[in-house]
Amino acid sequence: MIFKMRFYWKFVFATISVFIICLFLLSLVGCKGPLKEDLVCGKAVQVAPLKENRMRKDGRHSPEGFDCVINGEYQVSCLRDGSEVYFPFSFLKNYFEVYGKIVSEDGEERFEWFHSYSKIYHPKGKYDPKGVFMYFDNYNVEVRERVKCITASEGVPVSTQWEPRGYFYPIQIAQFGLAHYSKYIAEAEPNRLVLEDGDRTKALWFVADGASFTRKFLTDINNFVIEFNTQESLNSKGIELKLSESLTDFILNLNLKFESNGSVEVIVEDKEKKSNFHLFYVCSDLWITSKGNKIFHGLGDCNSWRRLTRDLLVDLQKGQSLSEKGKRILRSRARVTAVIFRGVGYADNITLSSSEHLAHFYDAADWFVKHQDDEGGWPIDVKRHLGAGVEDLDAGWYSAMGQGQAMSLLMRAYYSSRNEYYLSAALDAVKPFQALSEDHGVKAVFMDKYIWFEEYPTQPSSFVLNGFIYSLIGLYDVAHAPDSMGSEARDLYIQGIRSLKAMLLLYDTGSGTLYDLRHITAGGAPNVARWDYHSTHVNQLLLLSTIESDPVFATTAKRWQSYMNGKRAPHN
Ligand SMILES: *[C@@H]1O[C@H](CO)[C@@H](O)[C@H](O)[C@H]1NC(C)=O
Ligand SMILES: *[C@@H]1O[C@H](CO)[C@@H](O)[C@H](O)[C@H]1NC(C)=O
Repeated sequence: MIFKMRFYWKFVFATISVFIICLFLLSLVGCKGPLKEDLVCGKAVQVAPLKENRMRKDGRHSPEGFDCVINGEYQVSCLRDGSEVYFPFSFLKNYFEVYGKIVSEDGEERFEWFHSYSKIYHPKGKYDPKGVFMYFDNYNVEVRERVKCITASEGVPVSTQWEPRGYFYPIQIAQFGLAHYSKYIAEAEPNRLVLEDGDRTKALWFVADGASFTRKFLTDINNFVIEFNTQESLNSKGIELKLSESLTDFILNLNLKFESNGSVEVIVEDKEKKSNFHLFYVCSDLWITSKGNKIFHGLGDCNSWRRLTRDLLVDLQKGQSLSEKGKRILRSRARVTAVIFRGVGYADNITLSSSEHLAHFYDAADWFVKHQDDEGGWPIDVKRHLGAGVEDLDAGWYSAMGQGQAMSLLMRAYYSSRNEYYLSAALDAVKPFQALSEDHGVKAVFMDKYIWFEEYPTQPSSFVLNGFIYSLIGLYDVAHAPDSMGSEARDLYIQGIRSLKAMLLLYDTGSGTLYDLRHITAGGAPNVARWDYHSTHVNQLLLLSTIESDPVFATTAKRWQSYMNGKRAPHN
């Protein structure tokens, strides 16, 4: 009996000891990470931060925590399963600059890994100087954060990219115009509802006491218009057109002329909050200001007939972002409820549409005609710092890319309107290509041999690849001008293509591309193109491969595209 008792106590003692040792060992194994239920012991212990830490289907246990040392520089918590080692993706992502996420399809989850976040657009056919510009029908320039607003005076974007005050950046304006032109061609006809045109379509207007409203035939424009005469004060009632609830379009288009200081107000309701925003277009030169729920844009000169085309949601978004950063009213929550005129003046063709791409396109083209200088250029009025070892560009520089994209825009404006002034502006834009960078032109020469056109005409030269190719596309467009008017552009294009063929592979790193050649001209590390620019290079080469017979464009595009899928050139 005593013997049996002792044995019993020994047994209890041994069991407790084993249990304590077991807990101790578990505490040693434990590593950093969130508490998780460990299915082996049924106890809460610390395990490595792995989401799916369960026993595997084959009955084996989960991989265990393990320290991994990378090049003797970093330490990461990995997992080990026999001889296999698993790294956390959050580490791989930053270390190799790759991208990935868990996606689910038909209820099945999987992990998708990408080397690049950019997209390649394969041209649908031979590049056409009258057609869609590259894949710019996908661009939405005005919603970019670096666009302060679209001016109501000229209908073009104001950039804040290198100068928070804002300035007119020819490249941005040209891209705005080319994007709208390309959308005009690529998209279906918009919804367009004429609200009032003075004769065929008449709206119901609410006229303030003491104000007058008539419809009238004007002989100078040979058309019926509405005429109003009200107080100027923005607090007065004016003449008001109340809009039906069923309208869901946000592009306002109208013809307008004031005899006094006047204004147009558009009221946009936030349906959810039951609150109103007031967009005022006033006779002044201001770009944009806001005060509470009131947003003001300046119309510039008010006293001659002009067209006003506004994307009301963009105006609202830009106004809101002045006060509340990042705030944006959703299209589904917004509704245009009224258009109000104040002052003395006339209006015609008041329309709401789902888009007015051609109007925005001509606004951009007209800006280029109006602001071209005597040397055929569009000077950029901000200082530009490119990088170490490269002198800053003083305000007033020309960009070959700005010139080139303007040429692509102006040629399209010429073809679609047949107005000669677009054509002559495009032809004049060639002049800065003849002058060297140091002489206020855009031309550089590589190794005393190859002529290049500089996006940034720096000292020393920078040889930015994408800007050069955009300038070649502009020259190509002008080279196709009627008769032989484009012969100067054609010569420059031919010289440029010769340089491009000779120099293209200087930009190939074997796993990506270089943005420019500043490492050769200014020394230092090469300036590797981020995927945005790398994919632009590929898209540009694909375009060139449709107009140039040399296979270097297509084969290089193919290899460069493969880099986006993680491929690398073979090593020796
Ligand atoms: C017209 O009125 C607006 C405000 O209603 C004002 O900001 C602007 O300076 C005025 N313009 C002129 C030319 O008087
Ligand atoms: C209104 O549109 C008609 C038709 O397009 C045009 O003839 C007329 O000139 C326009 N009105 C104004 C004031 O521009």
